[in-house]
Amino acid sequence: MIEAQNINFAYRRGIPVLTDINCKIEDGEFIALLGHNGSGKTTLSRLFMALMHPRSGNILVDGNDINGLEPADLADKIGYVFQNPDLQILADTVFDEVAYGPRIKKLSEEQVQAQTEENLKVMGLEDLTTSYPRLLSFGQKRRLGVATALALNPNTLILDEITNGQDAFEKNKMMEYLSVLNKERGMTIILISHDMNIIRRYTKRAIVLKDGSIVYDGATEQLFNGEFPVESWGLRKPLISQLTTAFGVAADTIEAFCDKLIKGGEK
Ligand SMILES: Nc1ncnc2c1ncn2[C@@H]1O[C@H](COP(=O)(O)OP(=O)(O)O)[C@@H](O)[C@H]1O
Ligand SMILES: [Mg+2]
Repeated sequence: MIEAQNINFAYRRGIPVLTDINCKIEDGEFIALLGHNGSGKTTLSRLFMALMHPRSGNILVDGNDINGLEPADLADKIGYVFQNPDLQILADTVFDEVAYGPRIKKLSEEQVQAQTEENLKVMGLEDLTTSYPRLLSFGQKRRLGVATALALNPNTLILDEITNGQDAFEKNKMMEYLSVLNKERGMTIILISHDMNIIRRYTKRAIVLKDGSIVYDGATEQLFNGEFPVESWGLRKPLISQLTTAFGVAADTIEAFCDKLIKGGEK
């Protein structure tokens, strides 16, 4: 569980970047962190994993205040995948990349082997163990980033704009892997993304930041029901929401929408 209590944060120049942030993320949630560029999403997620600390307020991870802790202290609780996959790559093979954390932690080589193989498999990279990480496709690098973040068995994953620049096939594949982690391992997933189609399909709850304040915290489904000024929050309505609004047909998926439209059915 991650809890932010009255968080305020500013970088060096002192301009407020986060103002009075209060939120609680429960174990096992699949949650979206949304907002226009510069709204504070990356900053908030960095605070969650103690890369920086708030000017005032507290962040609790599993009930403990993390003020004074370092990222390494939280590495087996929270895994973080950076916006730029190249920044994270350290090793010469895919296997060594994912094994890096567990080796530093001095797990036995057998444990390292078992854990690494498992995490590579979860991300669909089991056939690439000896490949040079920098030569992977963009989508594969992304999945490698996630596999690396999984290496220390965290119960929470924070993914910062990892679906950017991926084609639909790679993106869906990634999302399906994440879905499995969430459903089968009960992993908490915090997804920062501008892809509202993905957000609507996979996340149950969304927190929206605008200029460093929370303007929405609730069900993802409600976010796009027409009541909220989502465009002014920098969010593009998901395709399905645009279609259902334009045609006045209620449907949860494109398939259901087409079905109803073709049958000329229920409005
Ligand atoms: N390292 C930094 N030093 C100073 N200002 C920063 C730094 N990183 C981000 N900011 C500023 O903080 C605000 C929030 O940025 P950020 O958290 O990166 O937003 P988002 O991830 O939502 O795009 C922006 O105004 C940005 O310019
Ligand atoms: Mg960001």
